[in-house]
Amino acid sequence: MSILEKLNQKKTGLTSYAQYENEYVYPKLEGPLKSRMNFKGNEVIVWSFNDYLGLQSDERVIEAEVEIVKKYGSGYPAGSRLLTGNTAYHEQLEHEISQLIDKDVLLLNFGYQGIMSVVDSLVDRHDTIIYDQQVHASLIDGVRLHQGPKFSYRHNDIFQLGRLLSKVQPGSEVLVLVDGVFSMRGDTANVADILRLKETYDFTLLVDDAHGFMSFGEHGSVGELMPEVDIYISTFAKALATTGGFVAARKEFIDYFKYNLRSQTFGRTLPLLTVASVLFKLKLLAQEGIERRNKLWKNTRLLQEGLKAMGYDIGNTCSPITPIYLTCSEKEASAFLKELRYTYGVFCSPVVYPVVPKGTMILRLIVTALHEERDISQTLDAFAKLQQTFALNCVLECSED
Ligand SMILES: Cc1ncc(COP(=O)(O)O)c(C=O)c1O
Repeated sequence: MSILEKLNQKKTGLTSYAQYENEYVYPKLEGPLKSRMNFKGNEVIVWSFNDYLGLQSDERVIEAEVEIVKKYGSGYPAGSRLLTGNTAYHEQLEHEISQLIDKDVLLLNFGYQGIMSVVDSLVDRHDTIIYDQQVHASLIDGVRLHQGPKFSYRHNDIFQLGRLLSKVQPGSEVLVLVDGVFSMRGDTANVADILRLKETYDFTLLVDDAHGFMSFGEHGSVGELMPEVDIYISTFAKALATTGGFVAARKEFIDYFKYNLRSQTFGRTLPLLTVASVLFKLKLLAQEGIERRNKLWKNTRLLQEGLKAMGYDIGNTCSPITPIYLTCSEKEASAFLKELRYTYGVFCSPVVYPVVPKGTMILRLIVTALHEERDISQTLDAFAKLQQTFALNCVLECSED
């Protein structure tokens, strides 16, 4: 059997959603990134984009990007950072982030690949990786590259983490991986409790804070614990609304990463356009960050309290990521989403099997500073009406495993 024949027989996982192409998978949202965009010719309220602080559609950002493109184009510089891909802008951005979080910083050309390479670079086959079962796929793929012992613990179960730490073979160095904010559930890691385990066990803690950096503040979701986090990573894909990211740690780590991250050494550098865009956005946030964050968190409270008051289960989120847990068949889920989109003009993304267990669905709403009170009230209204129509079981049944 050829590889293609084998693949054709294997229509499992997300492939089974190909029947919903342009609907729930690969939908086409049109128009500038705003709380209201066009979907199939109709205006919808969008709860599905990563731009927490509403920066990417700001005309000043777009103008700054146009100026850079006029001068350099979008593909400059043309090489890996190590060889021909370094510029004064890259170094300035590293310096500015370093000033914000008081650690040394190295930029990453892509968040996902950068994170994977950081994990890969830190361990050899004698070392042990222990990770929360809900960490992002980029960390999981880093773990997959690891040839030595690897163990996962139940989501946020510090007790189980402690037990695993106590069983590590002598001589094996330990790397612990968590997300600062977990991207599906919106809850946070108990970084303080994890750090307390360092009183008993020796390990290096890596936090992927893609969703926390700048949306929670300059020190992300780890806040005052930043100095104690050994390796802090964020992508620019969320609050800074573009691609790329950075890893931050003490100088010795960063000096090592500069020469040992395969995705950076053998991949093209972060484009100057992106670097300049992030620099400009950080400048804007220095002036408007508090105001934008206040709006983000006010919107988050309004939406989440409204949903909870109606009886929807939004789990333990403590971030703008708002998961609505539903127990229903695929058919019911599809009908619910269709009504939401076509009758009420509310666009959010479903999270389905295999990301969550069969028979459950998460509707994931991502709040931003771009949303207005009328977007929130119209959305809550839609959920109130749909609750009457569908009477779905709004109970968290997602297994923690
Ligand atoms: C927690 C987390 N880490 C890493 C990534 C990957 O980042 P990027 O999209 O910049 O590659 C994401 C993006 O979805 C994420 O949610």
